[in-house]
Amino acid sequence: MWRPAESHAACIACCFLVSLLRADVHAIDSTGMPKFGEDLNNVTVPVGREAIFICNVEGLATYKVAWLRVDTQTILTIHSHVITKNHRIAVTHSDHRIWYLHIREVREADRGWYMCQINTDPMKSQQGYLQVVVPPDILDYPTSTDMAVREGGNVSMQCAASGFPTPSITWRKEGGLSISLSPNTDVSAVNGPWLNVSKVNRLHMGAYLCIASNGIPPSVSKRIMLVIQFPPMIWIQNQLVGAQEGQSVTLECTSEAYPKSIDYWTKDKTTIISNGTKYHTDLKDNAYKTHMKLTIISVTLSDYGTYQCVSKNSLGETDGTIKLYAVPKPTTTTTTTTTTTTTTTTTSTTTTTTVPTSVPGRWWTTEMPKKSSKFGGKAPANEVDRRPSKKTGKYQDAADNKKDDPTDEDQQQSSRAAAAAAAGDNNGRPALSKKHKNGSTSVHPALGVTAAVWIIITQRIFPL
Ligand SMILES: *[C@@H]1O[C@H](CO)[C@@H](O)[C@H](O)[C@H]1NC(C)=O
Ligand SMILES: *[C@@H]1O[C@H](CO)[C@@H](O)[C@H](O)[C@H]1NC(C)=O
Ligand SMILES: *[C@@H]1O[C@H](CO)[C@@H](O)[C@H](O)[C@H]1NC(C)=O
Ligand SMILES: *[C@@H]1O[C@H](CO)[C@@H](O)[C@H](O)[C@H]1NC(C)=O
Ligand SMILES: *[C@@H]1O[C@H](CO)[C@@H](O)[C@H](O)[C@H]1NC(C)=O
Repeated sequence: MWRPAESHAACIACCFLVSLLRADVHAIDSTGMPKFGEDLNNVTVPVGREAIFICNVEGLATYKVAWLRVDTQTILTIHSHVITKNHRIAVTHSDHRIWYLHIREVREADRGWYMCQINTDPMKSQQGYLQVVVPPDILDYPTSTDMAVREGGNVSMQCAASGFPTPSITWRKEGGLSISLSPNTDVSAVNGPWLNVSKVNRLHMGAYLCIASNGIPPSVSKRIMLVIQFPPMIWIQNQLVGAQEGQSVTLECTSEAYPKSIDYWTKDKTTIISNGTKYHTDLKDNAYKTHMKLTIISVTLSDYGTYQCVSKNSLGETDGTIKLYAVPKPTTTTTTTTTTTTTTTTTSTTTTTTVPTSVPGRWWTTEMPKKSSKFGGKAPANEVDRRPSKKTGKYQDAADNKKDDPTDEDQQQSSRAAAAAAAGDNNGRPALSKKHKNGSTSVHPALGVTAAVWIIITQRIFPL
C-alpha cells in the first residue's frame, strides 16, 4: 500500500488510489512483476530552476507509478495525475517506462528526499535527493560600509553573505595591491568575514573588496572605501636656497594631508604670497600629496629672507620654512679661465638657474620619526627645524619635544635626521611613532582619535 499520508491531498490520493487498484485488479499479469531499471537520480539545482527526477520502470503493465515527498510523507502524483496542490509539480512519462517528476521554480524548502513507488504488493520504491543550491549574496547588514579612520586607529571591516553551501569570504585590495596587516606582513588576500588592521597608516587608504563565493556562480563582491585621515605633514628638500640679485629662483615643498589640504606660501610668516608677475605659484596634486613650487622672478634685495609653505586641513596646520640668502655676484673669479668670467658676467642678468650652493638636503619631517630608524647622527647643517603651528596647537610634535628639553639642540637634530632617514629609506613612507632621546618611542599625539564613518554603499556583481 501507499505510505500513510497526513495531508488532505494525500488522503484524497488514497481514495483515488483505492479506486484505481480496484479497476486494475483483473488486469494483473501473472507472468511477472514490474521492476526498476536504474537507480533514481539525485538532482542538484540552483534555486529558481526546474528539477527533474527520472524513474525507470520495466514491465509496469497495469500497475501505477506514484511520486512522493519522503520527509513530509506526501503523495505528489499517481500515474499521470498530480495529487498535491503544489502547482509547481508536474508528472510526465514516456511509454509508461520512464517517469519524470518535474519540480519547477525550485525553492530551498524543496530540498530533500523524493520517492518513486510502484503499487505492487509489497510495494517497490527507490529514492533520490534534491539538493537546492543558492548563489552567494552579500548582506547589507552587518557588512561594513565605507569608512574614514584617523591614522593610527584600528580598523575592523566585516562582510557577511548568505547562500548555500555557506559562502566563504575573501578580502582583497582593489587593483591587486597587497594588504598590509602589520609592518612586516603584506598579504594579497585575507580569508574570513573580518578584515582587522590595527594602527592604520595612509598607505592603507583605498578600496577593499569583500568577495563571497560558494562554487555557485555568480560570485559577488562589495567594494568598501577606507579613507585614512591625518593632519598635514611637510617635506622640504632644500631649506637654504641661495640666489643672486636679478636671478629667478624656485622654492619647493611637498605636503601630505587628508582630507585634502589648503596650501599656500607666506613671506616672513606674515604676508600671503599670491600668484602674479612677481611670484609664480604652482601646485601639483597626487592622491594625498601636494607638490608646491614658488618661483620668485628676478630676485631683489628685499626678497631675501624666510618663506613658509603652509598646509592646512580640518585636522591641523603645518608649515615649513625655506631661507633665501644672497649669493654675491661673481664680478671676478680665479685666474683659471678668463673666458668663463666673461661669459658669467654677460649672462648674469638673464640666467634663471638656481645657484648650486644649497646643499642637497634629505627629505625629512619632524612629524613622525620612524621608531626603527638606525640613523642616529646629526642632521646636515642646512636642515632647519620646522615648528608646528602655534595657531591651532593641534599638531605639537616638535613643540612637545622642545618643551621636554629646550636646550637639547642635538637631540632635535638627530630626531629630525632619524625622520629624514626614515622618510628616505622608505620612499616617503610615513612613520607613526617618535623616538625620544632616552631611546624609547612614543606614538604621535594625533593618533588614536575615534573614527568617523561615511555611509556610501557600492555593490558590484560579476560572473565567475
Ligand atoms: C544519491 O545520493 C545518495 C546519498 O547521497 C547515494 O547513496 C546514492 O547512491 C545517490 N544516487 C545516485 C544515483 O547517485
Ligand atoms: C576583528 O575585530 C572584531 C571586533 O572589532 C572581532 O570581533 C573579531 O574577532 C576580530 N577578528 C579577527 C580575525 O581578529
Ligand atoms: C588597536 O589594536 C591594538 C592591538 O591590535 C590594541 O592594543 C589597541 O588598544 C587598539 N586601539 C584601539 C583604539 O582600539
Ligand atoms: C599661477 O599663474 C600661472 C599662470 O600665470 C598658472 O599657470 C598657475 O597655475 C597659477 N598658480 C596657481 C596656484 O593658481
Ligand atoms: C623616555 O622619554 C619619554 C619622554 O621624553 C618618556 O615619556 C618615557 O617614559 C621615557 N622612557 C624611559 C624608558 O625613560
